[in-house]
Amino acid sequence: MAQSDPALKPKKPLVRDHFTTTLGIFVATLGSALGLGNLWKFPALTGANGGAAFVLAYIISTILVGLPVMISELVIGRSQHANAITSFRRLAPGKLWWLVGALGALAAFFILAFYTEVVAWVLLYIPKAISGELATSDPAVTEKVFVSLISNPVASLVGQWIVIAYVAVIIIAGVAKGIERVTRILIPILFAILILIGIRSLTLPGKAAEIRQGLAFLFTPDLTKLTFSVLLTAMGLAFFKLSVGMGTMITYGSYFTDDANIPRIALRVMLADVLVSILAGVAIFPAVFAFGAEPAVGPGLLFITIPTVTNTMPLGGVVMVAFLVLTAIAATGAMLSLFEVPVAYLAEKTRLTRTQATVITAVLLALIGSTAALSSSTLANVKIFGKTFFDLWDYLSSNLMLPIGGFFICVFVGWVWGWPQVRDALTNKGTLNNERVVKFFYGIAKFVTPILVLVVLLCGLGLFG
Ligand code: PHE
Repeated sequence: MAQSDPALKPKKPLVRDHFTTTLGIFVATLGSALGLGNLWKFPALTGANGGAAFVLAYIISTILVGLPVMISELVIGRSQHANAITSFRRLAPGKLWWLVGALGALAAFFILAFYTEVVAWVLLYIPKAISGELATSDPAVTEKVFVSLISNPVASLVGQWIVIAYVAVIIIAGVAKGIERVTRILIPILFAILILIGIRSLTLPGKAAEIRQGLAFLFTPDLTKLTFSVLLTAMGLAFFKLSVGMGTMITYGSYFTDDANIPRIALRVMLADVLVSILAGVAIFPAVFAFGAEPAVGPGLLFITIPTVTNTMPLGGVVMVAFLVLTAIAATGAMLSLFEVPVAYLAEKTRLTRTQATVITAVLLALIGSTAALSSSTLANVKIFGKTFFDLWDYLSSNLMLPIGGFFICVFVGWVWGWPQVRDALTNKGTLNNERVVKFFYGIAKFVTPILVLVVLLCGLGLFG
């Protein structure tokens, strides 16, 4: 009987990409990290939380928290070549550590709920950019366009469904290789366009004083602005940015080859990712001040300010469209990596095929996501803990679930897995000659990161101190 029970049959391995080259590994991992976090979330949060002090807190969190968690996740996944839950099950049989992976799958839903909606806004903006509706230097005009878009329930819902369907189709088709190849070409273009917009923003004619104000806002910290709740938001952003604390990097690590240098790749991904965020800030804040926009408008900042900058450039309309398309593409890599977490879990833990698992994930996501999609229209007055659903999913995932996941991941690597195993896994059994770096990482992951996360989390939630 046991023999014929399909649940007990060994599952065929998930159809997964196996990154073959160092460049492929780097690009794919960076592809998960880069996304709306850089272009939309970072500027919006920096604007809303007082500027440079927040940027500083974000960078410090990225180094002391994001990077160690990323290395921990990658090495957990690579050591088992399995999804997040199975990796923990194998490393700690009979223990509850797999719950960290399960929490991550749940976090993926919450993140995708609002993420897919923002991508929908990006896509719905493209026809507006083409038609010339955004061709203005007046942020009050673009703000009106944006508000009318997000308060349209039908457009918000249908836009989100299209985004979900698009990601689901790629996941089912399993053409991650194609995506990888495409992002390899497009990431440099994204950099180029960002630099171009940044240069324009820094050279707006007759606006020297305002440009200086914008840069000061971004780079001259006023530390009195750092409350614990701001610190928690900065740390949450560091988690979100590097796609850590929820199993995505465990899954990606499982695609790594055994000779990949994990600490080095993680460091490079982190540096490139921070650079893109800063570039986005440089592209946006001088213009915010130059055109008298409000830096603290929140989620709309990208949609309100960027068009006013591109509008002053030669071929501004084309640059705006290109920027939107590239934002959507940057977000695709991130969405795929988010989707993969619940899909991999369902496909491995149940009898569902990968296609069925994807369809179920997509339907569940459309249900949860609709609450975010309708947050500025039909459900605008429904508030939980004073937040709309859109803000709630965002807050819950970044400020709660990812830090909790990251805390346990570091505790696992630092205190449960053990130094000899971690050393072997990260030095590739001594072949990399990077033991000093690994030891340094291990010390941080064991003593610094968990304590920092715990203190910022508890104080940021106002539970302590
Ligand atoms: N890092 C992605 C971004 O900045 C978001 C993400 C979070 C992706 C968590 C995967 C996991 O847009």
